[in-house]
Amino acid sequence: MSNLEQTLSIIKPDAVERNLGEEIKKIFLNNNLKILQSKKIQITKDEAAEFYKVHQSKPFYNALCSYLSSGPIIVMILEGKNAVLLNRQIMGSTDPKLAEENTIRKKFGISIDKNSVHGSDSLENAQAEIKFFFKN
Ligand code: CMP
Repeated sequence: MSNLEQTLSIIKPDAVERNLGEEIKKIFLNNNLKILQSKKIQITKDEAAEFYKVHQSKPFYNALCSYLSSGPIIVMILEGKNAVLLNRQIMGSTDPKLAEENTIRKKFGISIDKNSVHGSDSLENAQAEIKFFFKN
């Protein structure tokens, strides 16, 4: 299948802290995404800064890096047909206030910072983000 893709998903500290990991994983599985790999880790602020370096010029960069490194996260490789776009649809808009009904961020997101999940925004970034967390 030519459009079988892999993408990176992160369940962020706010959701891990509320024990939403299994519930969020079920949402991916129920929407035709396979979880190829999954691990619960905590990263340093420097690692978060490297991961989010595309946002380094943004005013929220420092807070974003502090937040992602503030507690355990679950990082996953998701696979499926059009996985990059599909995952973004399942997550919903970045700001939970604007997220569509039945999306993860609408259901569980607390704020634009504590928006429960991250997902790669392009196939190219997905490959780089998967490599970042799952070096073989
Ligand atoms: P994420 O998909 O992980 O990618 C970058 C994150 O920056 C985003 O989710 C938000 O949690 C966070 N963020 C904070 N403020 C903003 C903002 N004004 N616009 C976009 N993203 C923001």
